[in-house]
Amino acid sequence: MPQGSHRTFDVAVAGGGIIGLAVAWRAQRHGLKTVLLERDARVAQGATHAAAGMLAPVSEANVAEQELLRLGLESAARYPAFVAELAEQSPLDAGFLRCGTLVVARDRDEAEALDRERDARARLGLEVERLLPSEARRREPGLAPTLRLALDVPEDHAVDPRGLAAALADAFARAGGDLRTGTPVARVTTSATGERVSGVELDDGERIAAAQVVVATGAWTQALGGIPTAARVPVRPVKGQILRLRDPAGPGLFTRVLRMDPGYLVPRGDGRYVLGATMEERGYDTDVTAGGVFELLRDASELVPGISELVLEELEAGLRPGTPDNAPALGPGALEGLHWAAGHHRNGILLAPVTADLLLASLTGAPLGELATPFTPDRFTTTPTKDVAA
Ligand code: FAD
Ligand code: GLY
Repeated sequence: MPQGSHRTFDVAVAGGGIIGLAVAWRAQRHGLKTVLLERDARVAQGATHAAAGMLAPVSEANVAEQELLRLGLESAARYPAFVAELAEQSPLDAGFLRCGTLVVARDRDEAEALDRERDARARLGLEVERLLPSEARRREPGLAPTLRLALDVPEDHAVDPRGLAAALADAFARAGGDLRTGTPVARVTTSATGERVSGVELDDGERIAAAQVVVATGAWTQALGGIPTAARVPVRPVKGQILRLRDPAGPGLFTRVLRMDPGYLVPRGDGRYVLGATMEERGYDTDVTAGGVFELLRDASELVPGISELVLEELEAGLRPGTPDNAPALGPGALEGLHWAAGHHRNGILLAPVTADLLLASLTGAPLGELATPFTPDRFTTTPTKDVAA
């Protein structure tokens, strides 16, 4: 039998976005025979393809959501080791950039709000530095002179999600994992008694036997069949329009992630930049609109006037996977053998390393620890029943 081809698997992962890829790689590296099933012809064409790649637990945090902040800080701390381990397994560059972040205010109201944000972060012991406009512009000369205030967040970095996904897919395959693209999963299958999972059935009727199944189907999770209604985690799509730009003159217009209210600019370090993003509740609509693009460009060029000289390379809308509380569902659910890695909403790139580690614990029956308690899938589900949703 060729390497990576097994009739039955220890683990089947449904969905080849950043989350499914990270979990599958971790599981395979640990010695679990893993198959990754991705519906599209290539991996990571969903939210991961659109994502900017900010690793921004401090600057993006809603300090009222301290459990998510703690999870994000933990994942950010694991990033250097995660990408270093990946680099040992794959020659593909994940595009991890230790660039830091500036959060900026453009008028008095925004400056007052930023000071409140700084105080809230200081109370939590998070490292931020208040910068007057002159110092902010000394550090980032591309910023407009109209800037009112900035916070320097030195430990919020960035990664290229497309590069990271390609490296994870490559490392997974090199580790002997079975990566199947163009393979939509129709439903999770269960044992005769319906009490535990037995694998998955594909759209074409083929069955794949697996002792455990991981749901990593992003914003499309509701369409995955075979999961009892009472054991489901509800996930909805949250649209984000985003632009990709390139400076023909090369890198240097700005070197840090720049965050404003409500958008952001992310440098890739090579003259490419990402400008995002809208937040829209529009179901599965992925149209890019004139209004969305106009607002993003208007806000960004007010902050960094040089933006208007850049080449517009790509317009895209992606669908963030959101649960009712906008926090992920991580670990075992109500149906035995079924594990959730879904609903990462605005932070799936940041949370990939910690998700992979927690899901490995879940798959091997190890304790997930206190960090994972607030994210248990059970918070959305009721007692398991045997009625199976189509
Ligand atoms: P996805 O990447 O959507 O992957 C799900 C995969 O499952 C897809 O490949 C899909 O084809 C596949 N699939 C679905 N159904 C099936 C099926 N039945 N069978 C087989 N395969 C299936 N996060 C950050 O941390 N930092 C950021 O800067 C950031 N910026 C963002 C900007 C935008 C505009 C958007 C939209 C998102 C952003 N995010 C960011 C959020 C991040 O992109 C998501 O949280 C993350 O990509 C979710 O990963 P995922 O693997 O769960 O979902
Ligand atoms: N985390 C950035 C976004 O979701 O747009």
